Amino acid sequence: MEHLDFNLAGKTSRVVFTDIAGCLEVPEDLPLVVTDQNVYDVLSSSFDQAYRGLVVNRGAYLYRVASGEKAKEWQSIAGVLQRGFDIGLGRDALFIGLGGGVVTDLTAFAASVYMRGCRVILVPTTLLAMVDAAFGGKTGMNFGGYKNMVGTFYPAEEVRIAPEFLRTLPESEYRSGLAEVIKSALLDDPQLLEILEDRHDQVMARNPGVLDELVRRSIAVKGRIVEADLTETGIRAYLNLGHTFGHALEAVTGFGTWTHGEAVAWGIQRAMRLGILLGVTDEQYARRVEDVLNRYGYRLAARGVDPAALFEAMKQDKKKQSGTVRFVLQRRLAKTMVQPVPDPVVMQCLREGC
Ligand code: GLY
Repeated sequence: MEHLDFNLAGKTSRVVFTDIAGCLEVPEDLPLVVTDQNVYDVLSSSFDQAYRGLVVNRGAYLYRVASGEKAKEWQSIAGVLQRGFDIGLGRDALFIGLGGGVVTDLTAFAASVYMRGCRVILVPTTLLAMVDAAFGGKTGMNFGGYKNMVGTFYPAEEVRIAPEFLRTLPESEYRSGLAEVIKSALLDDPQLLEILEDRHDQVMARNPGVLDELVRRSIAVKGRIVEADLTETGIRAYLNLGHTFGHALEAVTGFGTWTHGEAVAWGIQRAMRLGILLGVTDEQYARRVEDVLNRYGYRLAARGVDPAALFEAMKQDKKKQSGTVRFVLQRRLAKTMVQPVPDPVVMQCLREGC
């Protein structure tokens, strides 16, 4: 099995590239596998042999949470912790989070607090979780109506990646993850951007070789950033390109109307536009970004959405940023910056995007 080791604040986080069987291999010390109902159903029907043989028959303990964002609440975390206590797991316990970003975030959070921190391996099954959520040490849950308000930095000792999982991923989920791949390309990988531009049909057909490349390159970009700044005191904020706008859109339209990735794609376009309004973004580069986003069919206008409501939602997001909304902008590819922007310019940008 091939792997890459990243040094995240002195702790090695290993990313292993394998297949589904490799992902489901249970280590000697019987772990608590946390998954959701959806992943459980898909795995037990599509990959029955691997699933039963490697997880069920080998005696791992299984804890299932409900599918979707609603699982990312204290109740699920408490359920995981309780299950750990019930089966008598000690400080040396191993938790495995098998699923999309909700499952990997909540499992890693539970592991980070179980007896002050036990071992955790993450097995992301969606593109979004492979290229973003599962790797990089952020764990969390939603609280008080806000996403990811409570959490820890606790890198998984291993993240197991099998692009094969993506075969059964619904189209909307796949496109949601692709927006984060586009973001990674813009942050630090010109060749990845070229792949997205030149090999659109293979990307959309989920060609295994191309998928492998998209996932590896996105992880490499994130790896370089989180190795330099695990706890987001500096450049890690670059990973939020498109997210200040995107989170506001998700909040205003009700989570689910726009997938996370669709909202981020719209947000990336807004960030380009904001950069142009401020005179910092190269216009030719912004056009190139818009072309890619269009090529992948993202909605770049949030028709019917109230710009003032988006602005309000951004202010709420301030809670996470000690009072000032700071925007991730780009001069051009791989030239990223973070800065506050005067309210009237933000409003103009929002009006143009609705
Ligand atoms: N998803 C953004 C980050 O990991 O920092």
